[in-house]
Amino acid sequence: MNPQGAALHIHAAAGPDYGHVMGEGVDVSHGPILYLDDITVSFDGFRALNKLTLTVEAGELRCIIGPNGAGKTTMMDVITGKTRPDLGTAFFGQTIDLLRMTEPQIAHAGIGRKFQKPTVFENHSVFENLELAMKTDKRVKASLLTKLDSAAQDRIAETLTLIRLADQSGRLAGLLSHGQKQWLEIGMLLMQEPRLLLLDEPVAGMTDAETERTAELFNSLAGKHSLVVVEHDMDFVGRIARKVTVLHEGSVLAEGSMDTVQNDERVIEVYLGR
Ligand SMILES: Nc1ncnc2c1ncn2[C@@H]1O[C@H](COP(=O)(O)OP(=O)(O)OP(=O)(O)O)[C@@H](O)[C@H]1O
Ligand SMILES: [Mg+2]
Repeated sequence: MNPQGAALHIHAAAGPDYGHVMGEGVDVSHGPILYLDDITVSFDGFRALNKLTLTVEAGELRCIIGPNGAGKTTMMDVITGKTRPDLGTAFFGQTIDLLRMTEPQIAHAGIGRKFQKPTVFENHSVFENLELAMKTDKRVKASLLTKLDSAAQDRIAETLTLIRLADQSGRLAGLLSHGQKQWLEIGMLLMQEPRLLLLDEPVAGMTDAETERTAELFNSLAGKHSLVVVEHDMDFVGRIARKVTVLHEGSVLAEGSMDTVQNDERVIEVYLGR
């Protein structure tokens, strides 16, 4: 199948109410929402990913931890089409071959990504940022001048509450704190109803209070969305952890509950320290 064909396939099937979890148009009926197998990425002979195999189930909140240089960001680059692996397999649901798709096609298929630095429209209000995010969704056939229908208004209101910015709705995004900008960007991603959301170090630079509120936010998203969260802040990971994957030298070193990985000798050795 050519990449265009793959992209066109995506919206063929629809699961109306379980879109977020089941992945509307993404076939997760017989398996995970994300399937990576034997992914190898080399930079000038150095293997940033070395036969990485990892699967994420629909509706999962997966935490990925591991030392600097373990390959966590590179893994996200592969999933989003930014970096092409030398070898391996990467599927989104049962049928969507990520390695045959371009970055925009992958984004359109429903994989959203949050980079470390917040990228909000500073000169627009919080509300307008969410509005703009919704309208950049290709499926919403409305110009920026079109008046929002009440369903759209409701979605924005719900998202504002979820990201704890309901009382900041009319405020310019540029005036928000770093943590609030991060929440706004997460809200903007959610407006596009991603089937899988990748977040790279979402609480870096946040205050303790912001980190704690972010953990609450992620816990409220768990089960409703499929999330992959990379983080070094172990306190934060402990607050949101379900299944945790430890990467080391481009491969999975350990996987399991927070308790399991924290007590794993190899994980203690390479990452958590004694
Ligand atoms: N474009 C690139 N060119 C060359 N080397 C790269 C490139 N991108 C990443 N690397 C190398 O690949 C390895 C994995 O990097 P990566 O950024 O994925 O690690 P990470 O687990 O995200 O680390 P951190 O926790 O510090 O963010 C590192 O040694 C890094 O220097
Ligand atoms: Mg990284």
